[in-house]
Amino acid sequence: MTGPVPALEDRAVACANRLLEADRVLLASHIDADGLTSAAVAAQALERAEIQFETVFEKQLDEAAIARIAATEYDTVLFTDFGSGQLDDIGEHEDDGAFTPVIADHHQPADRDTEYHLNPLLFGINGASELSGAGASYVLARALADVSSTAATDGGTKPADDPATTPRTDNRDLAALAVVGAVGDMQASGGELHGANAKIVEEGVDAGVLETGTDLALYGKQTRPLPKLLEYATDVQIPGISNSERGALRFLDGLDLELKRDGEWRRWSGLSGDEKQTIASALVQRAVSKGVPASKIDQLVGTAYVLPEEPVGTELRDASEFSTLLNATARYERADVGLGVCLGDRDGALERARKLLRDHRRNLSNGIDLVTEKGVTHEENLQWFDAGDEIRETIVGIVAGMAMGNQGISRSKPILAFAEKSADPRSAENSADAQSADQTGEAATETDGGELKVSARGTHALVRQGLDLSVVVGEAARAVGGDGGGHDVAAGATVPKGEEAEFLERADEIVGEQLA
Ligand code: C5P
Ligand code: C5P
Ligand code: C5P
Ligand code: ZN
Repeated sequence: MTGPVPALEDRAVACANRLLEADRVLLASHIDADGLTSAAVAAQALERAEIQFETVFEKQLDEAAIARIAATEYDTVLFTDFGSGQLDDIGEHEDDGAFTPVIADHHQPADRDTEYHLNPLLFGINGASELSGAGASYVLARALADVSSTAATDGGTKPADDPATTPRTDNRDLAALAVVGAVGDMQASGGELHGANAKIVEEGVDAGVLETGTDLALYGKQTRPLPKLLEYATDVQIPGISNSERGALRFLDGLDLELKRDGEWRRWSGLSGDEKQTIASALVQRAVSKGVPASKIDQLVGTAYVLPEEPVGTELRDASEFSTLLNATARYERADVGLGVCLGDRDGALERARKLLRDHRRNLSNGIDLVTEKGVTHEENLQWFDAGDEIRETIVGIVAGMAMGNQGISRSKPILAFAEKSADPRSAENSADAQSADQTGEAATETDGGELKVSARGTHALVRQGLDLSVVVGEAARAVGGDGGGHDVAAGATVPKGEEAEFLERADEIVGEQLA
């Protein structure tokens, strides 16, 4: 067998075999781009292996969520993009005989382990930069294809399809979704994906579902009209163009190119190679002449991950735009829409997702403005703000990350954000719609009245200096009776209200120790 990540192969095969033994599986996943793509990869692999399953999404896998999952009475639960960090709670249900967990995750594991636990961090692979939840799910999907085809040819329990009519798949086509997940978790650094992620990219290219190439590293190459593409590109500031509508227009007008069609600005994805080259050179020239340092200018170019089977000019063709589209659904309680998009626009999901994207963009932009205007409080080793109920807890981390580098918000200290926790929507949904096919049964018991959500974001440069935010917010939260975890560069926590000052003090101390 030749899985994409040899170090994970044996564990992946064990997990796959366990899934094949199940009569039916509950698939539980996380509500962000990586969680959705994880679920979509797993769902297709289960379907192809002819394993019956249902899917549920959770904002956070806390005790109440795990209890809801246990109450479904599924014997086998496949957790994707979460589960590792909650193994202590999950283990209690396992001990009670409630269900057997199979976990494909990349978050920092809790102290307790379990048999069917597929996580790169257990095998010396970095879970923040080398493999995402969708990547771990992809490794599992590849093993499932291998194991179930062997079972079929060996006359195993699964009925063998007629090979003449149903070509067996090795699930390599799912690599595109795995890459969208990795990009959504911001695992690309220095302009490209690395390690196990790069292996998955290779498999996707071989399977014809991915193309890679060096391209302008700006967000919106598929869908943004050219002036907007340049105006909104602020990761690398180009004086006179970034954040300036007039500047961007003047720059484009000054080029000897036909950049409008029927009065409308064209988009990057529709340009010819020569046209792209002309614009890119002019941009670089402008940056050089305005004194932008060479290291910054390098960041203008990176590896683009293109999904060639998706139509040109749609969000789905660009891994980065695809992942933002997914965040726009799942972080607003519409994971069903995002999953539909991943599974091939079932029931007009794409149109619905685009509507949600417009709101998501507005929320991000309002959130960033709010933080920038209100400003952050600087402690010795970190900076923080309290968004109250003005920014949704599910996007406050994205806002915090995107605001770094704005006026008064440093990129040389991590940023922490507090937000009000919203009540679990399902308790309301269940009573409003008694017929909803919500298989999680019991309504949420948790009221969330006394807790705050914390999101933390750093930079890759800070991580290289020793920052590990999953330790920072995890330890600081536990010190005040909360809990948290995540990744070195991005993490989150829940803390009891009233403990903010204590939490910040402890977090500030830990960051200080890490960066010393
Ligand atoms: O739960 P999960 O691992 O999927 O979430 C990771 C989160 O961390 C994503 O929201 C991603 O955008 C964020 N992240 C970030 N900056 C990074 C790496 C990840 O904001 N450099
Ligand atoms: O929403 P998400 O965390 O996936 O965003 C990933 C990155 O995409 C952001 O950090 C930002 O650089 C970019 N983005 C953007 N404009 C948007 C949404 C996302 O530039 N409307
Ligand atoms: O919610 P947010 O985008 O800030 O989450 C950042 C990272 O922290 C994600 O990987 C998420 O799974 C993790 N997290 C966690 N425990 C929490 C909240 C977030 O492990 N209580
Ligand atoms: Zn993830």
